[in-house]
Amino acid sequence: MEAYQLTESRETRQISKSELIQWLTAEGELQQALFEQARQVRRVHGADAVVLRGVIEISNYCQKNCDYCAMRAVNKNLDRYRLLPERILEIASQIKEANIPIIFLQSGQDPQCDSILEEVIPELKKQFDLSVLLCLGEKPREVYQKFAQLGADSYILKFETSAPEVYRQIAHTPLLRRLQCIRSLQELGYRVGTGNIVGLPNQTLDTLAEDILLALEIQPDFVSSSPFIPNQDTPFEKLDFGDLNLTLNTMAIYRILFPSALIPSVSALEKIQKGGQLMGLNAGANVLTINFTPSKCREKYAIYSKQRFVVSLDHALGTIEQAGLKIANTFSPHPSVAVPI
Ligand code: 5AD
Repeated sequence: MEAYQLTESRETRQISKSELIQWLTAEGELQQALFEQARQVRRVHGADAVVLRGVIEISNYCQKNCDYCAMRAVNKNLDRYRLLPERILEIASQIKEANIPIIFLQSGQDPQCDSILEEVIPELKKQFDLSVLLCLGEKPREVYQKFAQLGADSYILKFETSAPEVYRQIAHTPLLRRLQCIRSLQELGYRVGTGNIVGLPNQTLDTLAEDILLALEIQPDFVSSSPFIPNQDTPFEKLDFGDLNLTLNTMAIYRILFPSALIPSVSALEKIQKGGQLMGLNAGANVLTINFTPSKCREKYAIYSKQRFVVSLDHALGTIEQAGLKIANTFSPHPSVAVPI
């Protein structure tokens, strides 16, 4: 299997599904070569410094019923919370003090957060001059537009899986609607992040390869892969964890295909294996998210599982040091160009 040539254009070289599957299943020396290539691409494109972002999980109410997530609307075993603007701004000042340039506001798909955000976003810009990253689910285009007008910079909406029937079975809504949201966000000028989960039922190597092809079509500014984590009080609680190596290989492929993109090493990797986030950085990732959600709310934000790994600033700094990397000084947005393959 030859390495991707960074100089070749997409017209001259299309990546095939079978080639992607070979990379996805790489083991041993081949896997090490894949990771080495990912790190080299990251270095060559000046994307080596690790970007820190501070997340506040502002609400665990959700309209959706995704089978993998305990925040699903029908789960009555979860205490619900929603943070008020004052509390969010208080925490934002801690993020600013920690010299973290990006505030990441995440919630379940909760329309009642909209008015809170309309109040908070302008203040985040005015008081703290933070880059504002949102991850709030599928919303009407007008709501995305309003947030953008108020100063929101970027938005993460993962497609989770590229297989429409798998998506529908798991999320009970159409994949097309989600893809339309992603398109709207791009049209509105957001920097957009997307990506997949590895280890969902009925996923195959074929659909995982198609996930990567879908990401290529979307051309996101950030892209992520997270291993599936079985979560209590969900229909998927008895399933196995997603495969760590498949996830790391996906991340490395993303790095090679999106050389200067932001790629997070997600906390779910650490949940699966101690040192998992270090493995993610070694596979080409360049983002760590530090959790600033008030401790009382954290366990209610049952995104991966109640016993999820909560990333502290110390853990992030230690991981960056072990990877032999530096923290990005200031956040200079990477251009959203993917090197053609
Ligand atoms: N396992 C893996 N990834 C998950 N996410 C949410 N719950 C899980 C889980 N149980 C990811 C999804 C979602 C993002 C916010 O977190 O990709 O889009």
